Amino acid sequence: MEEKKGVKQLPYGRQFIDDDDINAVIATLKSDWLTTGPKVDEFEKAICDYTGAKYAVAVNSGTSALDIAVAAFGLPAGSEIITTPFSFAASANCIAYNGCRPVFADIDPKTYNIDPEQVRKKITKKTKAIIYVDYAGQPCDIKALQEIAEEKNLFLIEDAAHALGAKYNGKKIGTFAHMTEFSFHPVKHITTGEGGAITTDDGALADKLRMLRNHGLDKSARERFGPDAGYAYDMRMLGRNYRITDMQCALGISQMKKLDRFIKGRRELVAAYGRELATLPLAMPYVAPNVESAWHLYTVQLGRGISRDKVFAAMRKRGVGVNVHYIPTYKFTYYKKNFPANDSDYPATEDVFSHILTLPLFYGMKEADVQWVAKELSESIREAGQ
Ligand SMILES: Cc1ncc(COP(=O)(O)O)c(C=O)c1O
Repeated sequence: MEEKKGVKQLPYGRQFIDDDDINAVIATLKSDWLTTGPKVDEFEKAICDYTGAKYAVAVNSGTSALDIAVAAFGLPAGSEIITTPFSFAASANCIAYNGCRPVFADIDPKTYNIDPEQVRKKITKKTKAIIYVDYAGQPCDIKALQEIAEEKNLFLIEDAAHALGAKYNGKKIGTFAHMTEFSFHPVKHITTGEGGAITTDDGALADKLRMLRNHGLDKSARERFGPDAGYAYDMRMLGRNYRITDMQCALGISQMKKLDRFIKGRRELVAAYGRELATLPLAMPYVAPNVESAWHLYTVQLGRGISRDKVFAAMRKRGVGVNVHYIPTYKFTYYKKNFPANDSDYPATEDVFSHILTLPLFYGMKEADVQWVAKELSESIREAGQ
């Protein structure tokens, strides 16, 4: 917890780094490979072992992962991809990067995840894929989305930036869609500073992703290294430079060893919030019966008649780093200009957005912090009503 202007500051999320993490990065700095080296393979293997996916391709951010996941499908320009507006902009931006059209479908007002029935309503002849986001770490209604994809011949990308370690019907997230994306930004479950990965069970897609992260080249620098290797390579497609460094992967490998502990710690804090907030006028997060959330975010909805913006401002003044996840993507200037959508078509998103508040949640927070946040929230709600 930091001090700012003499007020204690608790952020909504932050990393947990220990000496093992630091030593792992230092050891890699002293090694031969700082990028495209053995730590990348090792990190990808750790992700596969954890999620059960056959292949993992690590890149320099979750956003890059989403970009090349869409690119790997090679869709014709103007194809439509359906996604949720209640997410970080990256979930839809990856569609626009690839010359496709983001089409938003409204959310389920209980889970805040994309509503499969609303997805159905948005399907046209141009629809080629669905990108569904496991909001706050809670898996979507994946079975319903898989059924739609099969019936309509659509690709599925799971944006699991929030959901590393989450489970759907008892199985870890990472293998349900054609490709699943994870993010390792410092507020996420594990961090590599910046970083991301895509998991898939499809070897041809994994090969394409590896090329796309490295300019579209068919051989990496390491494959062209050594006495028996030649210099030749081909550029097979228009790729990017989305390579992740070995220092980042060394950190990622070290963090993966602690992932289950991180998630357990988050669950304990969530249980503490449940106890501490029980008497306040708000709706606590709903968790569907067949899922285990990875609890990236802890969000509450303030009771009707309470100004979320006033409570937000009061909490920030008190040093509680509350946040709002998310401003619906269709409200942004870029989207209004390029992919206009009517707010009134998204009643559930609009309603949840106007009442939602993210409270601090990260491994390393103490139960006493939860008690403090609950006390400040109670006082902020009272203050907002005056
Ligand atoms: C749902 C979602 N998707 C994608 C991203 C992008 O991840 P990154 O910040 O690693 O680029 C984020 C980041 O917060 C996110 O919340």
